[in-house]
Amino acid sequence: MRFLITAGPTREPIDPVRYLTNRSSGKMGYAVASAALAAGHEVCLISGPVSLAAPEGAEVHFVESAREMYNTVQEKINAADVAVFSAAVADYRVAEEADQKIKKSDDLLTLTLVKNPDILGNTRSEFGFEGILVGFAAETNDLEKHAASKLTRKECDLLVANDVSRKGIGFECDENEVILFYKSGESKMLSLSSKTDIAIELVSEIDQLATR
Ligand code: CTP
Repeated sequence: MRFLITAGPTREPIDPVRYLTNRSSGKMGYAVASAALAAGHEVCLISGPVSLAAPEGAEVHFVESAREMYNTVQEKINAADVAVFSAAVADYRVAEEADQKIKKSDDLLTLTLVKNPDILGNTRSEFGFEGILVGFAAETNDLEKHAASKLTRKECDLLVANDVSRKGIGFECDENEVILFYKSGESKMLSLSSKTDIAIELVSEIDQLATR
């Protein structure tokens, strides 16, 4: 099958030297890309700025902002059988990017933020994607409730949820523990393990979904 995978953070420019971003390392998405390649799949990886080596054999597109990621996904999604959205896309961007470096003046500086497009949320409705759709959810509370709502709202087949309030898993770590929530209502925990092993199990779950 052909996988499209988003990974890493996005960068939302404030002025020519500053941006808004988040703590995503891209490790989980890159591990999924490597696991999919190792399982014999083709991979198109759409990555935000990370300091990881590109998985050998993947078609890689580097992007910076959420809007660039949105446009690249839109361009590539219909060649995919499976789409895995592991990127930590910034929900908001600065309303007006300054052309020149903002100089300090008053004690208080207010930035107005506007909502970014939801890439995963538009994949069925706007891009017309009919393949297997896998979303991620990083939560700090009420994991099950938020995950179930995201699964339905974003029309996913599978949602990979993790509790980012726990130390040692998720953001900026090499390990993860996730719960998989399926459209069918089933769920399954992938207990504490390296992101490499979690990715291998996830690709195997996706392979099984494809044969259902
Ligand atoms: N996502 C996306 N585009 C966005 C925001 C999120 O594609 N602009 C994707 C992420 O890659 C992830 C999933 O949506 O697969 C969950 O993102 P999250 O920000 O947790 O979901 P939200 O619906 O924005 O929920 P919240 O209210 O928690 O921000």
